[in-house]
Amino acid sequence: MQSFGWQNGQPILRPLPFRAFRGEILAASANRGAAVQRPKSSSLRSVPVASPSPMSTESFSHQPVMLDEIIELFKTVPAGWIVDATLGGAGHTRAILDACPNLSVIGIDQDENAIKAASARLATYGARARVVRARFDQLAQVLSDQGIESVSGVLFDLGVSSHQFDTAERGFSYRTEAPLDMRMNTSAERSADVVVNNYEVADLERIIREHSDERFAGRIARAIVAARPVRTTTELAAIVASAIPAPARRRGGNPAKRTFQALRIEVNAELEILEPALVQAVDSLAPGGRIAVLSYHSGEDRIAKSVLRAAESGGCTCPVGLPCGCGATPTLKRVRVAAKASMQEQKANPRSTSARLRAAEKLMKAQGL
Ligand SMILES: C[S@@+](CC[C@H](N)C(=O)[O-])C[C@H]1O[C@@H](n2cnc3c(N)ncnc32)[C@H](O)[C@@H]1O
Repeated sequence: MQSFGWQNGQPILRPLPFRAFRGEILAASANRGAAVQRPKSSSLRSVPVASPSPMSTESFSHQPVMLDEIIELFKTVPAGWIVDATLGGAGHTRAILDACPNLSVIGIDQDENAIKAASARLATYGARARVVRARFDQLAQVLSDQGIESVSGVLFDLGVSSHQFDTAERGFSYRTEAPLDMRMNTSAERSADVVVNNYEVADLERIIREHSDERFAGRIARAIVAARPVRTTTELAAIVASAIPAPARRRGGNPAKRTFQALRIEVNAELEILEPALVQAVDSLAPGGRIAVLSYHSGEDRIAKSVLRAAESGGCTCPVGLPCGCGATPTLKRVRVAAKASMQEQKANPRSTSARLRAAEKLMKAQGL
């Protein structure tokens, strides 16, 4: 992780070990009179946001998915804070701030470029926007550091941004030659190179199968191990393609797509940390507050479904159709179930094709079934 500071009037980055990172506010300058709680923790430095630079604003491109649906979901929540747990280029955040004058946003991201771009884009919102570099399973800690007890909403727009994917040297894409990286947090120790060149063949096979439903996971894992050391994205893409039988290679897009997705998920521990993050998000909601989760593959959606359902049922163990006798107390009510982007959006933004939106609302008080 890195901490932000100033030198000769310019924002600078200093390296910080990830574990030592407690989250740092970047966009919390002038309080424009919104109902904003000031942070209690004196260990957090409040830093004016960087003025827009060509890297941070113009070159960071990402089209927010299901934007109208997300605004609609948060329009009716009580006044207060929304956590954008996956801030990216702040597309959703800016739309929420524009549409809902009674809401403020804390944006979290673990990616340094996203933090820089979002901070510049959110500067005009003053105290209504704060930006914290952290991993989203630190959500409870971030809120505690900011002195915020409960929030009116939490948004998760999972996966990588178009900016991350399209920046060749980040190593997310099989299309362009780059070192095997794929880290959203570039200070993290586990890169794709570490996974590809060090995992046991059985572990490689498992992650490729489990994270991307790849039928040929065993063949791909064995081919990777036989070709070690593998150093670049295009080298890896060629090894994967050669491990897949020719007829299957001709179907369903680039043959390396699923393996690259699986490696990215492993490198960033995307599935491991999602459940604890969602649980913290549900716990942090004030009555009437809402959680919205946009997922892009079945592994993410399964976890979102399971966490939201558990809160909707209160963990009820009674047989379906019979009145509840186990004393379960639901804390959420369902608002959206695996909603898809409109056909029009899917045509305009192919990234939205696989999106599934789940949303739920915190009950006024825990209710017996
Ligand atoms: C799909 S993009 C979000 C785009 C954003 N909604 C927008 O409109 O610009 C996902 C972002 O979440 C960040 N991210 C993914 N997993 C994260 C995690 N575990 N903790 C913090 N940030 C994460 C990525 O770095 C990326 O910037």
